[in-house]
Amino acid sequence: MKLLQVLQGEKTSPPPVWLMRQAGRYLPEYRALRQTAGDFLSLCLNPTLAAEITLQPIHRYGMDAAILFSDILILPMALGQSLCFAEGEGPRLPPLKNLAVLKPHHAPEIYAPVIETVRRVRAELAPEVALIGFAGGPATVACYMLDGKGSTDHFIRTRTLAYENPNFVETLLKILVDATILYLQAQVDAGADCLMLFESWSGIFPPDQFRQFVITPTRRIVQSLKFTNPGLKIIGFPRLCGLLLGEYVRATGVDAVGLDTITDPTIAIASCPVGTVFQGNLDPLLLKTGGKPLETAVRKLRDAFQNVPYIFNLGHGITPDVPPMHVAQLIAALRAA
Ligand code: CP3
Repeated sequence: MKLLQVLQGEKTSPPPVWLMRQAGRYLPEYRALRQTAGDFLSLCLNPTLAAEITLQPIHRYGMDAAILFSDILILPMALGQSLCFAEGEGPRLPPLKNLAVLKPHHAPEIYAPVIETVRRVRAELAPEVALIGFAGGPATVACYMLDGKGSTDHFIRTRTLAYENPNFVETLLKILVDATILYLQAQVDAGADCLMLFESWSGIFPPDQFRQFVITPTRRIVQSLKFTNPGLKIIGFPRLCGLLLGEYVRATGVDAVGLDTITDPTIAIASCPVGTVFQGNLDPLLLKTGGKPLETAVRKLRDAFQNVPYIFNLGHGITPDVPPMHVAQLIAALRAA
């Protein structure tokens, strides 16, 4: 498994490649299946369909890794917060006010279909293709739980609570850390080969809160899972963390770090400990434009990361308006000598 070799510290040329949101609305075969299931959440909770969707981009493009088709908000839903995806508007949850509504004991039963998807995908996937399990980073998941929606106002309720009632936020984060450890352990037991923590909104917090709400909970998750599963590899994605990247990698103990689009590779490499594995960070917009600019940027990234263990990816997810041909173009450019 090329992805695992690199996560173990090997440098390979060309690098392994997978793309955030590689299964999704830009693919006609995804849109067709989604229509039969109705809504997005029903897809996530249907192991037959979710497994098929996970494999769709692998069949079409031959990436080096599949990522479980699910969502970071399945965990809050499993904890008892209702969740819906309003068409074209993203996720909606009733903003969490009382932690007593959360029922961690029920969660495994509710996310059981997702674990079954992991089992089915691993059984169907070729042995050289890695399966990535994932969860949201606790701070990002807490943002959605407390604000009840996406980042339209930069999670103003969460950021206000972080000052007015930090104990409430801390307690929620503790619940999320414990639930995330169990959820990810279940994915590993079902066959996930490595894990990724999507801390997509870590960049909204000032440095002290970044340490408290992002670094400390992440370190707890990483330490616990690595203690139980020696050799397990974990990729962190502290999006928009800026100059705190090196501290995040050192203090959390993640094996690899996903870089966002605005991070300069040379500066990232210089800020992280020797041995860090890097993943990223092509601008997803280049997948929309395609052509020469895409190919040039792909080669430039490959060169920038040639002296470190490196996994090619985007700096954020594929958008629905990407022409599927451009993904093939990206992979061909990357794998060309
Ligand atoms: O990457 C993959 O292919 C695996 C599946 C995956 C999804 N979401 C599927 C999805 C993963 C790893 C995620 C993570 C996720 N979900 C994150 C972290 C990564 C990031 O993008 O920053 C976040 C913040 C979410 C929450 C979420 N889910 C939002 C804000 C939205 C609405 C935006 C949108 O694109 O519609 C979703 C919906 C969602 N998650 C879709 C998919 C394929 C679109 C569902 C559809 O309408 O069919």
